[in-house]
Amino acid sequence: MDIMLILSIETSCDETAAAVTRDGRIVLADEIFSQVDKHALYGGVVPEIASRSHVEVITDLADSALRSAGAERGELDAVAVTCAPGLIGALLAGVSFAKGAAFSLGVPLIPVHHIRGHIASNYIAFPELAPPFLCLIVSGGNSLIADVRGYTDMSVIGATRDDAAGECFDKVARALGLGYPGGKLIDELARGGDDTAFKLPRASVEGRPYDMSFSGLKSAVINVLRGAERRGEELDLRSLAASFSAAVSDALVPRVMDAARKLGRDKIAVAGGVAANSRIRGDFERAARADGRRLYMPPPALCGDNAAMIGCQGYYEYLAGVRADMSLNAYATMPIDKKEWL
Ligand code: KG4
Repeated sequence: MDIMLILSIETSCDETAAAVTRDGRIVLADEIFSQVDKHALYGGVVPEIASRSHVEVITDLADSALRSAGAERGELDAVAVTCAPGLIGALLAGVSFAKGAAFSLGVPLIPVHHIRGHIASNYIAFPELAPPFLCLIVSGGNSLIADVRGYTDMSVIGATRDDAAGECFDKVARALGLGYPGGKLIDELARGGDDTAFKLPRASVEGRPYDMSFSGLKSAVINVLRGAERRGEELDLRSLAASFSAAVSDALVPRVMDAARKLGRDKIAVAGGVAANSRIRGDFERAARADGRRLYMPPPALCGDNAAMIGCQGYYEYLAGVRADMSLNAYATMPIDKKEWL
Protein backbone atom coordinates (compact mmCIF):
# COMPACT_ATOMS: atom_id res chain seq x y z
CA MET A 1 0.00 0.00 0.00
CA ASP A 2 1.52 3.35 -1.02
CA ILE A 3 -0.49 5.60 1.23
CA MET A 4 -2.08 4.64 4.51
CA LEU A 5 -4.84 6.97 5.71
CA ILE A 6 -6.03 6.32 9.26
CA LEU A 7 -8.92 7.87 11.16
CA SER A 8 -8.01 7.73 14.85
CA ILE A 9 -10.15 8.17 17.92
CA GLU A 10 -9.12 8.97 21.52
CA THR A 11 -11.61 9.14 24.42
CA SER A 12 -9.73 7.62 27.37
CA CYS A 13 -10.31 10.51 29.79
CA ASP A 14 -11.72 14.01 29.42
CA GLU A 15 -10.61 14.88 25.89
CA THR A 16 -12.62 13.76 22.88
CA ALA A 17 -10.23 13.61 19.95
CA ALA A 18 -10.28 12.55 16.31
CA ALA A 19 -7.43 12.76 13.81
CA VAL A 20 -6.51 11.77 10.29
CA THR A 21 -2.91 10.69 9.74
CA ARG A 22 -1.06 9.63 6.63
CA ASP A 23 1.62 6.93 6.75
CA GLY A 24 1.84 7.20 10.51
CA ARG A 25 3.65 10.44 11.10
CA ILE A 26 1.96 12.96 8.83
CA VAL A 27 -0.94 14.64 10.59
CA LEU A 28 -3.63 15.86 8.18
CA ALA A 29 -6.13 16.79 10.90
CA ASP A 30 -6.07 16.71 14.68
CA GLU A 31 -9.29 17.80 16.39
CA ILE A 32 -9.70 17.98 20.15
CA PHE A 33 -12.77 18.80 22.15
CA SER A 34 -11.76 19.39 25.76
CA GLN A 35 -14.31 18.75 28.50
CA VAL A 36 -12.24 20.59 31.11
CA ASP A 37 -14.94 23.21 31.73
CA LYS A 38 -17.51 20.53 32.51
CA HIS A 39 -15.29 18.88 35.11
CA ALA A 40 -13.71 22.01 36.61
CA LEU A 41 -16.91 22.58 38.58
CA TYR A 42 -16.24 19.33 40.48
CA GLY A 43 -12.47 19.77 40.87
CA GLY A 44 -11.68 16.65 38.82
CA VAL A 45 -12.93 14.35 36.08
CA VAL A 46 -16.42 12.92 36.68
CA PRO A 47 -16.40 9.63 34.73
CA GLU A 48 -20.11 9.59 33.91
CA ILE A 49 -20.03 13.14 32.54
CA ALA A 50 -16.94 12.26 30.50
CA SER A 51 -18.59 9.23 28.86
CA ARG A 52 -21.76 11.14 27.96
CA SER A 53 -19.86 14.06 26.58
CA HIS A 54 -17.74 11.79 24.35
CA VAL A 55 -20.89 10.20 22.92
CA GLU A 56 -22.40 13.63 22.24
CA VAL A 57 -19.50 15.00 20.22
CA ILE A 58 -17.54 12.10 18.71
CA THR A 59 -19.50 11.77 15.44
CA ASP A 60 -19.29 15.47 14.59
CA LEU A 61 -15.65 15.59 15.64
CA ALA A 62 -14.70 12.67 13.38
CA ASP A 63 -16.58 14.30 10.48
CA SER A 64 -14.84 17.57 11.18
CA ALA A 65 -11.42 15.83 11.21
CA LEU A 66 -12.18 14.30 7.80
CA ARG A 67 -13.23 17.68 6.44
CA SER A 68 -10.09 19.39 7.78
CA ALA A 69 -7.97 16.63 6.25
CA GLY A 70 -9.75 17.04 2.93
CA ALA A 71 -10.42 13.30 2.97
CA GLU A 72 -13.50 11.30 2.02
CA ARG A 73 -14.70 8.46 4.22
CA GLY A 74 -14.14 6.05 1.35
CA GLU A 75 -10.43 6.95 1.22
CA LEU A 76 -9.76 5.70 4.76
CA ASP A 77 -7.65 2.55 5.03
CA ALA A 78 -8.21 1.84 8.73
CA VAL A 79 -9.70 3.12 11.97
CA ALA A 80 -7.48 3.20 15.08
CA VAL A 81 -8.86 3.63 18.57
CA THR A 82 -7.59 3.84 22.14
CA CYS A 83 -8.98 0.80 23.93
CA ALA A 84 -6.89 0.91 27.15
CA PRO A 85 -6.03 2.12 29.74
CA GLY A 86 -8.41 4.82 30.96
CA LEU A 87 -11.88 5.45 32.30
CA ILE A 88 -13.88 2.45 31.18
CA GLY A 89 -17.06 4.27 30.17
CA ALA A 90 -15.08 6.97 28.37
CA LEU A 91 -13.02 4.39 26.47
CA LEU A 92 -16.16 2.48 25.50
CA ALA A 93 -17.62 5.59 23.86
CA GLY A 94 -14.63 5.76 21.49
CA VAL A 95 -14.36 2.01 20.96
CA SER A 96 -18.06 1.74 20.08
CA PHE A 97 -17.82 4.60 17.61
CA ALA A 98 -14.64 3.19 16.03
CA LYS A 99 -16.19 -0.26 15.66
CA GLY A 100 -19.18 1.24 13.89
CA ALA A 101 -16.96 3.34 11.63
CA ALA A 102 -14.63 0.45 10.71
CA PHE A 103 -17.54 -1.93 10.12
CA SER A 104 -19.51 0.45 7.95
CA LEU A 105 -16.44 1.42 5.90
CA GLY A 106 -15.24 -2.17 5.63
CA VAL A 107 -11.71 -1.29 6.86
CA PRO A 108 -9.52 -2.83 9.58
CA LEU A 109 -9.97 -1.77 13.20
CA ILE A 110 -6.69 -1.19 15.04
CA PRO A 111 -6.67 -1.21 18.86
CA VAL A 112 -4.12 1.18 20.42
CA HIS A 113 -2.73 1.32 23.94
CA HIS A 114 -3.00 4.90 25.22
CA ILE A 115 0.53 4.99 26.66
CA ARG A 116 2.00 3.60 23.46
CA GLY A 117 0.18 6.49 21.80
CA HIS A 118 1.84 9.02 24.12
CA ILE A 119 5.23 7.57 23.20
CA ALA A 120 4.31 7.92 19.50
CA SER A 121 3.66 11.66 19.92
CA ASN A 122 7.46 11.89 19.64
CA TYR A 123 7.44 10.25 16.18
CA ILE A 124 5.13 13.02 14.98
CA ALA A 125 7.25 15.78 16.48
CA PHE A 126 10.57 14.25 15.40
CA PRO A 127 10.43 12.55 11.99
CA GLU A 128 13.97 11.20 12.42
CA LEU A 129 13.28 9.45 15.74
CA ALA A 130 13.28 5.66 15.66
CA PRO A 131 13.62 3.08 18.45
CA PRO A 132 15.51 2.10 20.48
CA PHE A 133 15.15 4.85 23.07
CA LEU A 134 14.11 5.36 26.65
CA CYS A 135 10.82 7.15 27.24
CA LEU A 136 9.40 8.80 30.33
CA ILE A 137 5.62 9.03 30.20
CA VAL A 138 4.14 11.40 32.77
CA SER A 139 0.43 12.18 32.58
CA GLY A 140 -2.60 12.60 34.78
CA GLY A 141 -3.12 8.87 35.13
CA ASN A 142 0.32 7.36 34.53
CA SER A 143 3.98 7.81 35.35
CA LEU A 144 6.39 5.27 33.99
CA ILE A 145 9.74 4.77 32.31
CA ALA A 146 9.62 2.54 29.26
CA ASP A 147 12.45 0.96 27.32
CA VAL A 148 11.24 1.27 23.73
CA ARG A 149 13.12 -1.38 21.74
CA GLY A 150 10.84 -1.27 18.71
CA TYR A 151 7.62 0.45 17.61
CA THR A 152 5.57 -2.34 19.17
CA ASP A 153 8.20 -3.89 21.42
CA MET A 154 8.68 -2.16 24.77
CA SER A 155 8.79 -2.84 28.48
CA VAL A 156 8.27 -0.84 31.65
CA ILE A 157 11.41 -0.52 33.75
CA GLY A 158 9.95 1.74 36.44
CA ALA A 159 6.58 3.17 37.43
CA THR A 160 4.93 5.14 40.17
CA ARG A 161 3.89 3.16 43.23
CA ASP A 162 1.01 5.50 44.05
CA ASP A 163 -0.09 8.79 42.46
CA ALA A 164 0.83 9.72 38.90
CA ALA A 165 2.94 12.87 38.55
CA GLY A 166 0.05 14.77 36.93
CA GLU A 167 -2.34 13.62 39.63
CA CYS A 168 0.12 14.97 42.19
CA PHE A 169 0.25 18.31 40.36
CA ASP A 170 -3.55 18.43 40.24
CA LYS A 171 -4.01 17.53 43.92
CA VAL A 172 -1.41 20.04 45.08
CA ALA A 173 -3.01 22.69 42.86
CA ARG A 174 -6.34 21.99 44.47
CA ALA A 175 -4.79 22.34 47.95
CA LEU A 176 -3.32 25.67 46.82
CA GLY A 177 -6.79 26.73 45.66
CA LEU A 178 -5.68 27.07 42.03
CA GLY A 179 -8.45 25.16 40.23
CA TYR A 180 -8.46 22.23 37.83
CA PRO A 181 -6.47 20.97 35.98
CA GLY A 182 -3.72 22.39 38.09
CA GLY A 183 -0.44 21.33 36.46
CA LYS A 184 -0.30 24.27 34.11
CA LEU A 185 -1.37 26.70 36.87
CA ILE A 186 1.38 25.48 39.22
CA ASP A 187 3.85 25.79 36.35
CA GLU A 188 2.84 29.46 35.91
CA LEU A 189 2.79 30.21 39.66
CA ALA A 190 6.25 28.67 40.13
CA ARG A 191 7.90 31.18 37.78
CA GLY A 192 9.97 33.58 39.78
CA GLY A 193 9.59 31.53 42.99
CA ASP A 194 12.55 30.31 45.08
CA ASP A 195 12.79 26.55 44.53
CA THR A 196 14.91 26.07 47.66
CA ALA A 197 12.52 27.86 50.04
CA PHE A 198 10.71 24.71 51.19
CA LYS A 199 12.33 21.37 52.00
CA LEU A 200 10.19 18.70 50.35
CA PRO A 201 10.84 14.95 50.14
CA ARG A 202 12.29 13.05 47.16
CA ALA A 203 11.05 9.50 47.63
CA SER A 204 12.76 6.36 46.41
CA VAL A 205 11.62 2.75 46.46
CA GLU A 206 14.10 0.31 47.97
CA GLY A 207 15.41 -2.21 45.46
CA ARG A 208 13.49 -0.59 42.59
CA PRO A 209 15.67 2.34 41.49
CA TYR A 210 13.41 3.40 38.61
CA ASP A 211 10.13 3.31 40.50
CA MET A 212 8.66 6.58 41.73
CA SER A 213 6.33 7.70 44.52
CA PHE A 214 4.49 11.01 44.70
CA SER A 215 1.91 10.64 47.46
CA GLY A 216 4.39 11.56 50.23
CA LEU A 217 5.33 14.72 48.36
CA LYS A 218 1.67 15.68 47.98
CA SER A 219 1.10 15.13 51.74
CA ALA A 220 4.22 17.17 52.58
CA VAL A 221 2.90 20.17 50.63
CA ILE A 222 -0.51 19.85 52.28
CA ASN A 223 1.20 19.71 55.71
CA VAL A 224 3.14 22.89 54.92
CA LEU A 225 -0.14 24.61 54.01
CA ARG A 226 -1.97 23.35 57.12
CA GLY A 227 0.92 24.29 59.42
CA ALA A 228 0.97 27.84 58.06
CA GLU A 229 -2.80 28.09 58.39
CA ARG A 230 -2.63 26.96 62.05
CA ARG A 231 0.05 29.52 62.81
CA GLY A 232 -1.76 32.21 60.87
CA GLU A 233 1.29 32.65 58.61
CA GLU A 234 1.24 34.01 55.04
CA LEU A 235 3.08 31.61 52.76
CA ASP A 236 5.06 32.53 49.68
CA LEU A 237 3.00 30.40 47.32
CA ARG A 238 5.25 31.12 44.34
CA SER A 239 8.18 29.61 46.19
CA LEU A 240 6.06 26.69 47.41
CA ALA A 241 5.02 25.98 43.80
CA ALA A 242 8.65 26.30 42.68
CA SER A 243 9.93 24.00 45.47
CA PHE A 244 7.22 21.47 44.64
CA SER A 245 7.96 21.55 40.90
CA ALA A 246 11.67 21.06 41.66
CA ALA A 247 10.85 18.03 43.84
CA VAL A 248 8.78 16.42 41.06
CA SER A 249 11.51 17.13 38.54
CA ASP A 250 14.15 15.64 40.86
CA ALA A 251 12.03 12.50 41.12
CA LEU A 252 11.99 12.16 37.34
CA VAL A 253 15.06 13.57 35.59
CA PRO A 254 17.96 11.89 37.47
CA ARG A 255 16.08 8.57 37.44
CA VAL A 256 15.61 8.64 33.69
CA MET A 257 19.24 9.66 33.14
CA ASP A 258 20.45 6.80 35.39
CA ALA A 259 18.27 4.32 33.51
CA ALA A 260 19.58 5.57 30.14
CA ARG A 261 23.17 5.11 31.33
CA LYS A 262 22.45 1.66 32.72
CA LEU A 263 20.65 0.45 29.59
CA GLY A 264 23.03 2.22 27.22
CA ARG A 265 20.30 4.22 25.52
CA ASP A 266 21.66 7.37 23.88
CA LYS A 267 18.19 8.73 23.06
CA ILE A 268 15.68 9.89 25.65
CA ALA A 269 12.08 10.89 24.93
CA VAL A 270 9.47 12.43 27.20
CA ALA A 271 5.69 12.28 26.74
CA GLY A 272 2.36 12.95 28.48
CA GLY A 273 0.70 16.10 29.82
CA VAL A 274 3.33 16.72 32.53
CA ALA A 275 6.04 16.77 29.85
CA ALA A 276 4.73 20.29 29.12
CA ASN A 277 6.11 21.45 32.49
CA SER A 278 8.75 24.12 32.05
CA ARG A 279 10.86 23.14 35.07
CA ILE A 280 10.97 19.49 34.00
CA ARG A 281 11.77 20.45 30.40
CA GLY A 282 14.59 22.72 31.48
CA ASP A 283 16.07 20.12 33.83
CA PHE A 284 15.93 17.46 31.12
CA GLU A 285 17.65 19.75 28.63
CA ARG A 286 20.51 20.46 31.04
CA ALA A 287 20.89 16.82 32.12
CA ALA A 288 20.84 15.44 28.57
CA ARG A 289 23.37 18.01 27.41
CA ALA A 290 25.70 17.23 30.32
CA ASP A 291 25.40 13.51 29.59
CA GLY A 292 25.73 13.76 25.81
CA ARG A 293 22.35 12.13 25.07
CA ARG A 294 19.78 13.18 22.47
CA LEU A 295 16.60 14.49 24.02
CA TYR A 296 13.15 14.45 22.38
CA MET A 297 10.32 16.45 23.93
CA PRO A 298 7.17 17.04 21.86
CA PRO A 299 5.77 20.59 21.84
CA PRO A 300 3.27 21.10 24.69
CA ALA A 301 0.30 20.73 22.29
CA LEU A 302 1.34 17.16 21.51
CA CYS A 303 2.10 16.28 25.15
CA GLY A 304 -1.52 16.10 26.30
CA ASP A 305 -4.11 13.62 25.07
CA ASN A 306 -4.71 13.80 21.32
CA ALA A 307 -5.79 11.46 18.55
CA ALA A 308 -2.88 12.11 16.17
CA MET A 309 -0.59 10.12 18.47
CA ILE A 310 -3.13 7.26 18.41
CA GLY A 311 -3.18 7.32 14.60
CA CYS A 312 0.61 7.30 14.53
CA GLN A 313 0.96 4.34 16.89
CA GLY A 314 -1.99 2.68 15.13
CA TYR A 315 0.05 2.74 11.92
CA TYR A 316 2.92 0.85 13.55
CA GLU A 317 0.51 -1.59 15.20
CA TYR A 318 -1.06 -2.15 11.76
CA LEU A 319 2.34 -2.85 10.21
CA ALA A 320 2.96 -5.34 13.03
CA GLY A 321 -0.28 -7.12 12.12
CA VAL A 322 -2.38 -5.97 15.09
CA ARG A 323 -6.12 -6.01 14.31
CA ALA A 324 -9.31 -6.14 16.34
CA ASP A 325 -12.69 -7.49 15.38
CA MET A 326 -16.16 -6.40 16.43
CA SER A 327 -15.71 -8.06 19.82
CA LEU A 328 -13.11 -5.41 20.81
CA ASN A 329 -13.63 -4.31 24.41
CA ALA A 330 -12.20 -1.46 26.49
CA TYR A 331 -9.91 -2.06 29.48
CA ALA A 332 -9.35 0.27 32.43
CA THR A 333 -5.84 -1.09 32.94
CA MET A 334 -3.44 -2.89 30.65
CA PRO A 335 0.35 -3.30 30.70
CA ILE A 336 2.07 -1.72 27.69
CA ASP A 337 4.22 -4.79 27.21
CA LYS A 338 1.51 -7.43 27.20
CA LYS A 339 2.36 -9.48 24.12
CA GLU A 340 -1.10 -10.70 23.18
CA TRP A 341 -3.30 -8.11 24.69
CA LEU A 342 -6.57 -8.72 22.94
O1 KG4 B 1 -1.58 13.42 29.10
P1 KG4 B 1 -2.68 14.19 29.70
O2 KG4 B 1 -3.35 15.26 28.89
O3 KG4 B 1 -3.85 13.26 30.17
C1 KG4 B 1 -3.70 11.98 30.67
O4 KG4 B 1 -3.55 11.03 29.86
O5 KG4 B 1 -3.70 11.88 31.92
O6 KG4 B 1 -2.10 14.81 31.06
C2 KG4 B 1 -2.87 15.64 31.88
C3 KG4 B 1 -2.04 15.98 33.08
C4 KG4 B 1 -2.83 16.74 34.15
O7 KG4 B 1 -2.57 16.13 35.40
C5 KG4 B 1 -2.26 18.15 34.08
O8 KG4 B 1 -2.32 18.85 35.30
C6 KG4 B 1 -0.83 17.86 33.68
O9 KG4 B 1 -0.93 16.83 32.73
N1 KG4 B 1 -0.17 19.03 33.08
C7 KG4 B 1 0.91 19.65 33.63
C8 KG4 B 1 1.22 20.76 32.80
N2 KG4 B 1 0.33 20.77 31.77
C9 KG4 B 1 -0.51 19.71 31.97
N3 KG4 B 1 1.62 19.37 34.74
C10 KG4 B 1 2.66 20.16 35.03
N4 KG4 B 1 3.01 21.26 34.30
C11 KG4 B 1 2.33 21.57 33.17
N5 KG4 B 1 2.70 22.62 32.43
